[in-house]
Order: sequence, then structure tokens, then C-alpha cells
Amino acid sequence: MLYLPIVNRKVSLTGIKPTGNLHIGNYFGAIKPALELAREYDARYFIADYHALNTMKDPEELSASIREVAAGWLAAGLDPEKVIFYRQSSIPETFELSTMLMAFTAKGLMNRAHAYKAALQGNTERGDDPDAGVNMGLFTYPVLMAADIILFDSDVVPVGKDQVQHIEMAQDIARSVNANYRREVLKAPQPAVRENVAVVPGLDGRKMSKSYGNTIPLFTPEKNLRRLIMRIVTNSQGIEEPKDPGSSQIFLLYKLFASQDEQAALAKRYRAGGMGWGEAKEELFRAVNRELAPLRERFQGIMRDPPALDKILARGAEKARPIAAAVVARFRKAAGIDLPV
Ligand code: TRP
Repeated sequence: MLYLPIVNRKVSLTGIKPTGNLHIGNYFGAIKPALELAREYDARYFIADYHALNTMKDPEELSASIREVAAGWLAAGLDPEKVIFYRQSSIPETFELSTMLMAFTAKGLMNRAHAYKAALQGNTERGDDPDAGVNMGLFTYPVLMAADIILFDSDVVPVGKDQVQHIEMAQDIARSVNANYRREVLKAPQPAVRENVAVVPGLDGRKMSKSYGNTIPLFTPEKNLRRLIMRIVTNSQGIEEPKDPGSSQIFLLYKLFASQDEQAALAKRYRAGGMGWGEAKEELFRAVNRELAPLRERFQGIMRDPPALDKILARGAEKARPIAAAVVARFRKAAGIDLPV
């Protein structure tokens, strides 16, 4: 008889705000690193649709975004048999936990949240009422996020730098609960900051970001991909001039998609002169399209069958809910509100 060790792996959890239209900055900055982490951890990745509701009030836009972003992660290689993949809105325990956590969250802590402070400051600078346009969803955003995380006894939360404060707030909140009951009722999570991921340059040379309007969408049709790449801003060096690969946005992008050998070969051509920017872009397009074409096809396939996609997410929620319910039950018991109904 063979005894297999029971490996209790650590839990990695992250939320993905469904803001639609994934671009290659998201792919290299968030999707790929999170999928890599999923090989070592028990991963729970979810679509944070209630977080999106704070800013997205158009129902068609929000529901389309939820499906697009979910399909995008699946197309990029998320395996729903291995990763528990679900919608936040399918886990009612999130909102139960969120309410309980509110009782342990100082209002002052929320006053210090970057997003809320930025909104306040913008209003003040414009001479508006300080709270103009600030809904309670924005103000309490870190509590809902803490609930998302704490609900699954998460060990690590892979996020970008901009989210670290939120994870630290989740830690603070979990620790206040534990301090009150003098034992570890809730697990305090650690941020796993993506430090060494490449900064993906956008079409204008600045960091690729939706807010700069300089993105290359991940699933754009081939023709448009080519058109966008041809639009990348370059300097005015002529064809014959030798070029420095290190200071070329085109080359920086190429590095993300090409093998070491390919990079070395192209760098040589840059330095030798005789290759114009048009040709450099052509090489870039070939490398990008080689990696993205299969993703694009998978994405389109998934988007053609919304009920199948919804089923994947529903099955993820089915797996997630018992885990979540156990954490809520543990907290309720510690709090003394576990009388039978
Ligand atoms: N706030 C995160 C973002 O804007 C999304 C998010 C919601 C999240 N809940 C989370 C991330 C829980 C990590 C863990 O990107």
C-alpha cells in the first residue's frame, strides 16, 4: 500500500477588477505572474464585480466586462480544474464577513486609504465639496477587499504595488479581530508584490496603461494588432544608421515575446545599421502575433459560448463557498453569534 503525503499548500488569492479590454501590460504585469504562482499555491482567483460596481454603473458594460475578463484569464491559461475561479458576487459569505469586519475597522483607517484620499484631494483642488462623487463603496473598498482575502484563509495575495496598502489594511483588520478574541480567528495575509515584472512600454513610450490610451489590447484582431504596432512612436534615425536596442521601445516590447537567441540576433541587426524602424516593427509584429494568435483564438471560442463560461464560474463558486462558509462560521462562533437559527 502506497501512502501519499498530504501536502497542505499555501493559499494564493487575488481579485481581478473587470474593467474590460485586457491589454498586454495586464498580461505580463498581472496575468502571467499570477498563473505562475498558481503552480506552487492553492490558487483562488476571482472577478471582483462588486468592486467594479463602485465606478461602473452601466449594466451592459459591466456584464460584458465580467465575461470578457473571465474569458481572458481562461484564454491565457488559467485552468479552472486547478484554480478555484469564481465571481465575487456568487459568494454571499463575502458580504457577511464584510459586515462583521466593519465592526473591527476604524473609520480613521479608511480615511487614510489612497484612493479615497486622492478623490478628496481632487475635490478640494477643484473647490468642490470634499465628498463629491465619493460613494460608500469607494470609502469602504478596503473592507470588502479584506473580506475577499480573509474569507479563504489566504496566505499570499499577488498584487501590483498600488494595492499593497489594501493588503496591509486587511492585515490590520484581521489582527484587530484576533487581538480582541485573544487567538488566531482569522488569518492575516501577506502581499506578494510583483517587483521584477517587466514594465511594458505603451505605444507612446510611456508605461502601457488604460488611462494613457496607449495600450495594445490582448485580443485585438491580427490586422489591428499590426496597425497598432506600426503606430509605435520612434525617433527619426534613418535606415542606415546603427540603432541602440536598449533605448528602443520596439526592442523592449520584442524582448517580452522573443527567445534569447532571437533577441541577440535582432540586437545585432539594430547595431549593424541598415534596418529601418519599419522593419523592426515588422519583426515585433511577427513575434507578438506568434504568441497572441492562439490566445486570441481561444478567447473568441470562449466568448462564443457564454453559458459554458458562466458554468465554469458557477462551478468555481460551488467549490469556494464551503471554504468561505467555514471561515464565517469560525468568526461567528468566536464572536458569540452562532446560536442556532
Ligand atoms: N482592488 C483590486 C484592484 O483594483 C482588486 C481586488 C478586489 C483584489 N479584491 C481583491 C485584489 C482581493 C486582491 C485581493 O486591482
